[in-house]
Amino acid sequence: MDRTLRFATPFPSRAITHEHAHEHERVYARFLNSRDVPALLDLEHEKWNEVQAASEAQLRARIEAHPDLAVGAFCPQSDRLLASLFMRPVADDFHRRAQTWQDYASLPAPHHSSTLFGISLTSRDKTGVSALLEFFWPHALKRGWRHIYLGSPVPGLRQWLAEHPEGRIEDYVRARRAGLPLDPQLRYYGSRGFSKIVAVKANYFPHHRSLDFGVLLRGTIPLSGLRPLWASLPLPSVRRATRLLAGLL
Ligand SMILES: CC(C)(COP(=O)(O)OP(=O)(O)OC[C@H]1O[C@@H](n2cnc3c(N)ncnc32)[C@H](O)[C@@H]1OP(=O)(O)O)[C@@H](O)C(=O)NCCC(=O)NCCS
Repeated sequence: MDRTLRFATPFPSRAITHEHAHEHERVYARFLNSRDVPALLDLEHEKWNEVQAASEAQLRARIEAHPDLAVGAFCPQSDRLLASLFMRPVADDFHRRAQTWQDYASLPAPHHSSTLFGISLTSRDKTGVSALLEFFWPHALKRGWRHIYLGSPVPGLRQWLAEHPEGRIEDYVRARRAGLPLDPQLRYYGSRGFSKIVAVKANYFPHHRSLDFGVLLRGTIPLSGLRPLWASLPLPSVRRATRLLAGLL
């Protein structure tokens, strides 16, 4: 069984208090709009290289296509963008029909689906990632989203293969140390509930240290199995419920 996404990680309050903010000010998240594009570009170029970074046109297109699936987290004092997450709806079996990030980012959106593909997660502050997942959780429940897939780089792969020339990539991505994934980025995603390895894809995305491999991970939105309940409640009630439940999951 999947572990559910750690949308509840480990808040409340102190955990998403940005290091430069006062104790009582929480990092906040909201849906992105076109006015955020300059800040998004700045973050892209800080965290991705020239080949990997999204262009201005791509960022605008993502927001326009799915404004309810483009989320940013911000510093409460300076309003500086700390993290961004772009998602899009995909068919529940999308990964059987395509191979690369480019494919997944451009497959036609289905009419009915409970599955999202995370086009991109970018962060300069881990409290930002917690804040944007916390923000999105009640919206996801209300809309009936069940799973989020992410394609993770495996930045330790190149080095591991240099040390284990006979090694198999499948073995590396499933290798664990002290019970946790050996690869640092799989460890990171595992700690956030993206622990289910669905597929290992060659030529997934240009990433030198990953030899361009990507690992498709699936996270389950906590409590999304109670779909009829969330559908019957107004969003503010769902939001209150997730706040109450956050500390318990
Ligand atoms: C991956 C990312 C979103 C995580 O952001 P974050 O929540 O702010 O967390 P950090 O960057 O501080 O990383 C958290 C931990 O995971 C580890 N980690 C995450 N990605 C890693 C990577 N590529 N290589 C090595 N370690 C990594 C870090 O070492 C860190 O460990 P620490 O807590 O012991 O310091 C961010 O590093 C990023 O934007 N990276 C570039 C873009 C990217 O790879 N996005 C994901 C593609 S799906």
